[in-house]
Amino acid sequence: MRVLFVCLGNICRSPTAEGVFRAHLERAGLAARVEVDSCGIGPWHVGKAPDARAREAALRRGIDLSALRARQLAAEDFARFDYVLAMDHDNLAAIEAQRPASSEAVVGLFLAYAGWPERAVPDPYFGDEGGFETVLDLIEEASRGLVAEIAARLEATP
Ligand code: 4NP
Repeated sequence: MRVLFVCLGNICRSPTAEGVFRAHLERAGLAARVEVDSCGIGPWHVGKAPDARAREAALRRGIDLSALRARQLAAEDFARFDYVLAMDHDNLAAIEAQRPASSEAVVGLFLAYAGWPERAVPDPYFGDEGGFETVLDLIEEASRGLVAEIAARLEATP
């Protein structure tokens, strides 16, 4: 199973989702069966590590994002990943616009897995430190829901 998280720059929200979701998979004993990655819609930060504020906020919860590097969403991602999950509605619209008709990936908003089908992870880039804590809280909640769904799918197809 392969999961791709998508935001605008791939330096704040989606690398946070990648790190947090991987930690949840490890806790559930599923890390070896699920591949996780993240990318951005825009090209501005390609090759860069996550924003220092995102790294520090994640580290306070025991999650190290320092090895991650930003990349852009690519056409191949739609064939490779089972889930392509957007942080907000703009990301989702951009994903849908690039999605090939042949793609069977589940495309949607990540926070739907927290039971908030229309809610976005707010972009923290131009805000203060508190925004990064909110991002983490929302992502932790959605990670729990997505781990549960994937665990059920993996159990159905051993
Ligand atoms: P992200 O945050 O999409 O969560 O990585 C942003 C990072 C950079 C920019 C916007 C959002 N930017 O405009 O450069």
